[in-house]
Amino acid sequence: MNAYRRSVSLGTLGITLAALLALTMPAPTARAQTAGKPDATTPQVTFTKDVAPILQEHCQECHRTGAMAPMSLVTFEEARPWAKAIKQRVETRTMPPWHLDRTVGIQHFKNDPSLTDAQIDTIVRWVNAGAPQGDPKDMPAPKQWPDINQWQLAKQFGAPDLVIDSAPYTMPAQGQDVWWKPTSEIPLNEPRWVRAVEIRPATPDGRRIMHHVLARLQQDEPDLRKTLFLGSDANSDGPGMLMEWAIGKNYDVYRPDTGKLLLPGSHILWELHLHSIGEEITDHAQLAIYFYPKGQEPKHRTYLMSYTANPVENGQLVLDIPPNTLKETQNFHVLKQPAILENFQPHMHLRGKAMSMEAILPDGTTRMLSYVDRFNFNWMINYVYADDAAPVLPAGTVLRITAWHDNTASNRNNPDPNQWVGWGERTVDEMSHAWVNVTPISEEEYQSYLAKKKSSEVATSIVPSP
Ligand code: HEC
Repeated sequence: MNAYRRSVSLGTLGITLAALLALTMPAPTARAQTAGKPDATTPQVTFTKDVAPILQEHCQECHRTGAMAPMSLVTFEEARPWAKAIKQRVETRTMPPWHLDRTVGIQHFKNDPSLTDAQIDTIVRWVNAGAPQGDPKDMPAPKQWPDINQWQLAKQFGAPDLVIDSAPYTMPAQGQDVWWKPTSEIPLNEPRWVRAVEIRPATPDGRRIMHHVLARLQQDEPDLRKTLFLGSDANSDGPGMLMEWAIGKNYDVYRPDTGKLLLPGSHILWELHLHSIGEEITDHAQLAIYFYPKGQEPKHRTYLMSYTANPVENGQLVLDIPPNTLKETQNFHVLKQPAILENFQPHMHLRGKAMSMEAILPDGTTRMLSYVDRFNFNWMINYVYADDAAPVLPAGTVLRITAWHDNTASNRNNPDPNQWVGWGERTVDEMSHAWVNVTPISEEEYQSYLAKKKSSEVATSIVPSP
């Protein structure tokens, strides 16, 4: 299959998306008609009664003392000075962070933190009314949060079965980016199936220097990928990636009856991408592993694929972004066996603008699966499909990954639109791939999905019409 690339103007991009929209999805539903129009009968919106519960549910996970966001939004006194900024961020749906186009593709996810239109409306009315506090007696009890140093999956699974540490690295105050690649042994004396993994920098300071963490699994076994994928997707050094960490992506919980297999003698080959921040910091990464109970063998094994949008020429990833241009790249990936796609996680750097994943089915029809239209380098969000929405695709499906880079002055993250940018691992270089957990299934299982799911979202949006 020939990958191709070309530059596009904004106009072309608009037409492409409109066409895709018409092809794949119903028109977006209109915002609530009443938005922003209070009348005499509408009771006043107050912080304590109406706004605090929304902030507890959708914001405080990050906006509380000690968590990742720059300010706490727990008390009225803390939130009040931010009222205008809060209104702006929720109206534009840039907070909570979720950069997916809500009008095309699959819309049911396991981890969608978005506000409803009614919640946005409540916040906007509160700010427009002068952000009043209301009766302190209406204030809900403060939400209890687990210890910041606890594993996020502890809530669901308790303490991890294994914690693997990478060797530490001391990052100097100034210097070039570093890719630290130590190896750690996984202490196992029998094969075990993994049902969830979580990665974190060992300390909050480490979070400031870690751009990403990869945990590659290395163990001796036949390379199954050759039977499942084609071309560079089939080439891998062993079973591939166990997990990838970046801000916005902390863990993977595999679907029921799905997992990854660890064998005795296996190792983690780490890759910690570190950058200097003007202060010397020493830290390392930690990987928590949660096993299925002994003897329980899930039916499916899942593979974390790095599906590139940029072409591969002579085994080299290629990206060529001239100064002051908007660039489109596209590449294709074949499923040799039916498979379930578990998630979509676009990865680009500072010039990243948008990325889509489409399925070209064996009958020739194309379905938009997911389109992140407002990619933001600060957030490597993992969009995890809900169980009843994860696309189930037939053998022979071609996945088309398209990425757009904006190397113009209109990209606020762009450090210099006058520079040429090429493929590379440094933050100032560019990349374009989607991390996707792909779970191959048998032909019989695919047929039974087809039969069972006739009327569900999966069947209507993905499976070829008969
Ligand atoms: C997943 C973590 C997370 C969640 C959930 C989240 N935020 Fe944020 N928020 C951040 C981070 C990190 C930043 C700073 C980086 C950025 O702007 O993207 C931020 C920035 C902001 C800012 C801009 C602050 C400034 O300096 O101007 C506002 C306002 C804001 N958030 C409001 C909210 C509101 C309101 C909610 C809930 C409706 C929310 N956030 C949910 C992490 C989060």
